[in-house]
Amino acid sequence: MKRASIQETGFDRIFQNVELAAGYAKRHAASARRAGARLARFLNRASCSPARVLDVGSGSGDTLLELAEHLPDAELVGVDLCQTLLDISRRKASERGLDGRVRFEEASATALPYDDVSFDVVFSQDTLHMVDDPVRMLNECARVLKPGGVARIRVIRRSWLLSCVEGIFRSGFTRHEIAEMLAQTSFEQVAIRSGLLYVTSQARR
Ligand SMILES: C[S@@+](CC[C@H](N)C(=O)[O-])C[C@H]1O[C@@H](n2cnc3c(N)ncnc32)[C@H](O)[C@@H]1O
Repeated sequence: MKRASIQETGFDRIFQNVELAAGYAKRHAASARRAGARLARFLNRASCSPARVLDVGSGSGDTLLELAEHLPDAELVGVDLCQTLLDISRRKASERGLDGRVRFEEASATALPYDDVSFDVVFSQDTLHMVDDPVRMLNECARVLKPGGVARIRVIRRSWLLSCVEGIFRSGFTRHEIAEMLAQTSFEQVAIRSGLLYVTSQARR
């Protein structure tokens, strides 16, 4: 099955439309919060207490805001290109009194405005399939990761069956494609877990 571009699935229209983006934030808030709790458990199991965490394609902001509750000493940064979602995320951070510690910034996943080796954890969920150059996004994630830091990237898995329900599933990647892309990056110790395709990796030490 050929991969459909995000333009073909029509999904990118959502993030350029204020009402649709706000609707997306509402619908996905609970699942994004669950992602934050899952990430917290994962970091806990890995005995990882990060000082700085980056969420690439931070969407409704709920993943980072949930994670912030579990990591009271960490600084958390979310980047996204959708102004509506950034506004919503910043408002939620401020309502929870977290705006000093959790920041949401307008930036592209393929050109992160951060220094090399500046984050302990880089997280991204369901964003890789939306960018024009996914290898570049993966390389940007690797670049900003500190030596020994952890990247956890959830990738939409391409599925003919699921695309009957939601077209977006035609724009995802196969496990093989992910492995090929990762081979073009500086990530090391890569583990690709099936199901939703979780990529966990460590930056070069
Ligand atoms: C499917 S949503 C996932 C949002 C969030 N990670 C979640 O799991 O709920 C994809 C997000 O990626 C953002 N996005 C798309 N292309 C981007 C890019 N090139 N740089 C930064 N963010 C991007 C969209 O605005 C959207 O918020």
